[in-house]
Amino acid sequence: MDFSDKKEEIRRAADIVQVIGQYVQLKKQGQNYIGLCPFHSEKTPSFTVSQEKQIYHCFGCGRGGDIFNFWMEYHNLTFPQALKDLARQYNVSLPEYNNSPGNRKKSDLIEFLFEINELAGRYFHDVLIKRPVGKPGRDYFSERKLSQDTISKFRLGYAVNSWDGLVTFLERKDIPLDKAAKAGLIVSNTTNGYYDRFRGRIIFPIFNLNHQIIGFGGRVLDNSLPKYLNSPDTPLYHKGRYLYGLDSAYKDVRTKGFSIIVEGYMDLLALRQHGVTNVVATLGTALTSDQVRRLKSYAKKVIVLFDSDDAGKQAALKSFPLFLNEDLSAKVLVLPGGEDPDSFINKYGITKFDELLGNSIPIFDFYLDQALANEEPGVDGRIRLIKDVLPIFMELEDRTAKFLYIHLFSEKTGIDEGEIWEELRLDERKLKKGSGLNEFKDRLVSVLDTKKYGSDLQFLKLLAHYPEKIDNFRDQQWELIVSDKNIVKIIKVLMEKFPFKGSLYEVEEFLDDPITREQLRVALISNPYDKDIVDQAVGEFLNKISKMRISQSISRARAEGNIEAINHLIKEKQGLDLRNKRN
Ligand code: CTP
Ligand code: MN
Repeated sequence: MDFSDKKEEIRRAADIVQVIGQYVQLKKQGQNYIGLCPFHSEKTPSFTVSQEKQIYHCFGCGRGGDIFNFWMEYHNLTFPQALKDLARQYNVSLPEYNNSPGNRKKSDLIEFLFEINELAGRYFHDVLIKRPVGKPGRDYFSERKLSQDTISKFRLGYAVNSWDGLVTFLERKDIPLDKAAKAGLIVSNTTNGYYDRFRGRIIFPIFNLNHQIIGFGGRVLDNSLPKYLNSPDTPLYHKGRYLYGLDSAYKDVRTKGFSIIVEGYMDLLALRQHGVTNVVATLGTALTSDQVRRLKSYAKKVIVLFDSDDAGKQAALKSFPLFLNEDLSAKVLVLPGGEDPDSFINKYGITKFDELLGNSIPIFDFYLDQALANEEPGVDGRIRLIKDVLPIFMELEDRTAKFLYIHLFSEKTGIDEGEIWEELRLDERKLKKGSGLNEFKDRLVSVLDTKKYGSDLQFLKLLAHYPEKIDNFRDQQWELIVSDKNIVKIIKVLMEKFPFKGSLYEVEEFLDDPITREQLRVALISNPYDKDIVDQAVGEFLNKISKMRISQSISRARAEGNIEAINHLIKEKQGLDLRNKRN
C-alpha cells in the first residue's frame, strides 16, 4: 500500500516544531530551531529543526528526517505505527487494513507486541478491580494506601497465583503464544508448553512516552523472593532505557523545570498520590546515561531521592558522573531515619516532604561528604581522595565549573588548590582526548567542507531551495561543475522528481544511501540564498557550465591537434568572460 498521500496530508496538518517540541526543548535561531539532540549525548545544541522544510537534522550524530522518522526513532516504532499515531493526533483518517493475527508480516512484530501488552495490561487490571480472584491484590494496595484513582491512572493490576491465568486468556483471544512469549509475558517450557511469567503478584505496567505498555513489573504480596520481577529485555523493553512514570510526568517536569528521581514503583506512586507530579523512577537499576539524557529534554535540574540505605547512597554516588557528563544540575536528598519516599510521605505528608526537598544538597557536596566519611587518616588517605575525585574533575569540560569545584574540594579537604591543579594537568596530559564539541565541529566541517564540495553544495542548495530553477539546468551539462558523485546522484533525483507531488523531502525516499540522504538534509536545512540573488546565482552557474564545457572541448581539440577548433573555442571563451564582466 502506498501511503505517500496520507503522509503528505499529515505533514500538512502537523507542524514538526510542535511535534518535536513536545520532547525536545527548541529555541529559535535564525531560520531554524535548535536544541539538544535526543539521540546522542551532547551539551551544545546541534539538533536542528526547519519549520519551513519540515525536517530535522542533527549535525552531531547525523540523524534526521521528517516527522515520521522522528516519531519512529524517538518512540522506537515501525512506520505503520508512527503513521497511525500521527494520523490520530492530527485527525487524518487512514484506510483500514487487515489486522488479523495470521496476516502479519514479521516487520509488524513490534506493533503486535504492543497489542499483546495492551491486552495483558487490560487483563491484569480487570482481575484486580473486578474479579473475586483479584481480592488479594485489592487488599494489598489498600494496605499500601493506594487509591482507586491511582490504581486506574497507572493501570495497576493483579496476576493470579496460577500457571495459566494469562495463557488461557490469550488463547481465548486467539493470540499466538510464541508472540506472547516474545513480549516476555509467558515462558515456554519444553514439557508443558507455556506458563505465566507473573504469578501471584501485583502488576505495574511500564509505559513509553507514547503511553503504550512496553513491559511490566510485578511485586509479591509477602516477603518471598524475588520481591520484584520485571519483563525481560524484549523488542519493546530494554532495561535502563526508560524511566517509569515519565510519560505522565514530562509535561509537569518541563513546567516546573525540575524532576525528582526515585528508585521504586511504590515510591513514585505514593508521591504522585500526594500531588508530586514531577517524579520519575529508575526501577532498581543504577541510573543510566540513556535515562539522564531523556530527562534532560524536560528538566534543567533533578533531585535524586534514593533510599537512605547503603544501596541507595551507592546508587546516588554512581549517578554523579552521569549528571556531570550530561551537564544536568543534580541535588541529592537523603531521607532521615531510614525511610524511603513511600513510607516517608505516608507518615509525614506533603508539607514535611516539601520542607525536606529544600534541604537537598548539590550532588558534588554529597559526593565529597561520602568520600570524606570513608577517608583513611593520614597522607595515604589524602592521596586516595585526590585520586578518587580527579576523574570527576577531568570530566568537567566547563572551566568555570572546574574552578568552582576544585575550590570547594580544597575548602572541604584542606588540600591545596595548586596541588590539585598540578595533578589534574598531569592526568589530562596522559588522557588527551577530543571533546564532543570538537567532534561536532569536525563533522560539520566535513559535511560542509567548502574546499571539497563547496561549489557542489552551493549548487545543490540552489536547486533544493528554489526547485523552480531546476528547468534552467535540465538541458545543460551540469555534471561538469559537480565533482562529488553523491551530490550528482541527489541532483539527478531532484530533476527526475520535479515538479514534486508533495513536500520536497519526499525525494529522500529515492536516495538509497544514508550519505546522500544526509547531504540533502544538510542542503535543505542550511540557509538558502537570498531571494534577490537567486537569478544571479543561476546565471553564474550556467556560465560556469559553459566555461567548463569549452575548456573540455579545448583539451580535446588540443589532443587532436585541431588548431582551427582551438582558436574558435578560445574566442568563444573570451566572449563568455566579456559577457560576465559586463553583467
Ligand atoms: N527492584 C527490582 N528487582 C528487585 C528489587 C527491586 O526491579 N529484585 C526495583 C523495583 O523497581 C523497586 C525498586 O527496585 O521498586 C526499589 O527496590 P526496593 O527499595 O527494594 O523496593 P520498594 O520500591 O521500596 O518496594 P516496596 O516498598 O514495595 O518494598
Ligand atoms: Mn519501599
